[in-house]
Amino acid sequence: MAEIARYPSLLPLTGKVDGPTARAASAGPAKQDKDHALWREKSLRRLFSIGHIEHENELEQSTRDQIVKDSMEVLRSNDRGGYTVPAEGLYPFQWNWDSAIVAAGWAVFDELRAWEELETLFSDQWKDGMVASINFHKFSKTYFPGPEIWGTPENPSKTSGISQPPVAALSARFMYEHTAHPVEAKKNIEDLFPKILAWHRWWYKARDPNNTGVVAILHPWESGMDNSPAWDESMTFPIDPTLPPYERQDLTHVNANMRPTKDTYDRYLTLLYRFKRENFYDPDKLYEISPFRVTDLCVNSILFRANRDLRWLALQLGKTDAVAEIEGWLDNGFEGFKKLWDEEAGLFKCQDQITGKLEDAAISAAFLPLFAGVATREQAARLVENLSTWLKHVKYSVPSLDPQDPRFEQLRYWRGPIWLIINWMISNGLRHYGYDKLADRIRNDSIELTNKAGLREYFDPVTGDGAGGTKFSWTAAMCLGWLDRNAVIAIGHKMSGPKDYLN
Ligand code: GLC
Repeated sequence: MAEIARYPSLLPLTGKVDGPTARAASAGPAKQDKDHALWREKSLRRLFSIGHIEHENELEQSTRDQIVKDSMEVLRSNDRGGYTVPAEGLYPFQWNWDSAIVAAGWAVFDELRAWEELETLFSDQWKDGMVASINFHKFSKTYFPGPEIWGTPENPSKTSGISQPPVAALSARFMYEHTAHPVEAKKNIEDLFPKILAWHRWWYKARDPNNTGVVAILHPWESGMDNSPAWDESMTFPIDPTLPPYERQDLTHVNANMRPTKDTYDRYLTLLYRFKRENFYDPDKLYEISPFRVTDLCVNSILFRANRDLRWLALQLGKTDAVAEIEGWLDNGFEGFKKLWDEEAGLFKCQDQITGKLEDAAISAAFLPLFAGVATREQAARLVENLSTWLKHVKYSVPSLDPQDPRFEQLRYWRGPIWLIINWMISNGLRHYGYDKLADRIRNDSIELTNKAGLREYFDPVTGDGAGGTKFSWTAAMCLGWLDRNAVIAIGHKMSGPKDYLN
């Protein structure tokens, strides 16, 4: 416990949880507080009980300690009781994949709080299994489009009407595998497992009705890489002339040169109002009528990796039927990914499902099939060759667009900047295929970026400056669970079977 004394400002740990999913309410407040304090104490002990590990090029221990402390403070200050907002003001609700990543960050120092994050995320799951991109727990005027614009029917004003990359199974497996509290964790996972399974089923039913093995996104916001040039061509459908006037809130928080243009926003809203006219209800119908339908590499790579983790969880829980079902998705997915390989470019590409064309842009998600473990060894070698060339043109890895592409903008959201969560995924994937040197380079760059620029939303790959929002939750979670060398548990868990699909 001596190490904990280094963080006197973090103690004592106040254990108050007043969110919508506060656990064990029936157990009585005294017992609940005691349990919570116990969970926290054990988790903290694990976090700070490992000594200094010498590592070339790494920062001084005191600098790292400061980043860990700042990261914990960011999660605490963005905690709204059972869920964590990505950033104060700019993103005032619970975002889906942010929350799942953030859960893994909480798990490093407060496991109970980590489980609550996932529990709250699934608390507004739709009846058909969808987990929406945004849960609007409390009203806020600082974000557009908020609940009043979405007006989704299933849970009036409670969620958006589309989804986001399915990261939750990854965090759930990570939390379960590394828990210091196996009995409690087992209860949590038993509760969560069927919900995550239902969500993955939703992806296949609603977004891959023709059983191709890879799913579509019907809105750029579903990819999580909202403004990516990967779908510039697919975003040329006509803007709805009846679009009601609107006022963007993002530009009141962040400089316009870092955000999507008005034309792009008009198209985001054209899609939203088109889906709203169908009441968001009938996924088959949405799939048919959407003027935007793209096989996205980010969602599909994450879904593939999440299926591996969900299968791992199913095995732990003895759910044999689910194991077989998930293995079917993995085998089909492996076939589906083959169509996304551009042999000439040596890269994976997104695909417009309406025209059938591979999208021309080479984006950072091109490397995510390594994270999924769905690329063959030959493909991995070509990807590494490409990534190495990209890195000759920028100082820091990994830009969200090939820096040689004329559309590259080092500051504009998803058209050049670096996101730490994508860096973690790419680095993790590279390690899986044995490219440790490149994986280390990405990790070291990520450490340097957060040290230089702080816990920003994203980073300029040329200058290393921070951009977008500040005190950003998932960046903090990445510092805790990936970059901090002292973290006893880190989100670098090994990929699980059933096969390696590498050859
Ligand atoms: C932006 C990102 C999206 C993220 C959200 C909250 O919209 O593009 O991926 O979930 O911010 O951080």
